[in-house]
Amino acid sequence: MALYTMRELLADAQARGYGVGFFNAVNLEMIRACVEAAEQLRSPIILGTAEALLPVAPFEWIVPPMLEAARRAKVPVAVHLDHTYRFETLMQALRAGFGSIMYDGSRESHENNIEHSAQIARVAHAMGVGLECELGSVSGLTDEAGHEDAMVYTDPAEAADFLERTGADFLAVSIGTQHGVYKAKPRLDIPRLKAIRAAVDAPLVLHGGSGLSDEDFRETIAGGIAKVNVFTDVILAGRRALCENPEASYPDGVSLAREAMTRAVAEKLRLFGSAGRA
Ligand code: 13P
Repeated sequence: MALYTMRELLADAQARGYGVGFFNAVNLEMIRACVEAAEQLRSPIILGTAEALLPVAPFEWIVPPMLEAARRAKVPVAVHLDHTYRFETLMQALRAGFGSIMYDGSRESHENNIEHSAQIARVAHAMGVGLECELGSVSGLTDEAGHEDAMVYTDPAEAADFLERTGADFLAVSIGTQHGVYKAKPRLDIPRLKAIRAAVDAPLVLHGGSGLSDEDFRETIAGGIAKVNVFTDVILAGRRALCENPEASYPDGVSLAREAMTRAVAEKLRLFGSAGRA
């Protein structure tokens, strides 16, 4: 199947009221787990990597198999670059053939976020590539100096102006989710999400999709989220399989981890309502 773009997948999700899962992958087993889960469920899916993962899985090692798997899949698969801060990495993704990229200016001042996002949007659009940007800040990630990102809720009153001035195509919103393992039960601000949804037409993205309840997914997708990002729950499933089978040989351990990750991805796809949509 030809490579799909995030724009195409999210347009269908928005029109029909379901969510598309985005999953970061750091090796072949994670790529395969995502594609096999999507094929088993006849679901669209978005695969990707992020700048912070490149030290573990360098671009030139992870991207070619990801693009190849996406092209060979029996269901629609898009390839997207998640949280990226450096111009060079964004350009590398454009050249490699990504259909969409995320420029994350959430660590900058509001005005700098707008200025830099707008510059990246011009380049991305000139290449026919969609751009995701973040307004407010979803906490849980750390910068190169080890400082954790602040939690700043997205202001619905700023959303339309932000999209207009940046030209961004997809909006990552901060409504109470966090990246990584939650230390306390997340409390999501659904009225805020609905106010953002009412203010803009662009597909909305929920980061920090691990550790949320079934009800959280139901409410956020009904409230206007079109894409849900997941990483931590998948790698925890892989690690658990390895820990539970300490006697397994390396190849057997890898297979057990992949099967566990496939189940973890499939569970999310079912919850997002994307099963059977491909
Ligand atoms: P989790 O690791 O919390 O699932 O978040 C993933 C994410 O939002 C990637 O952008």
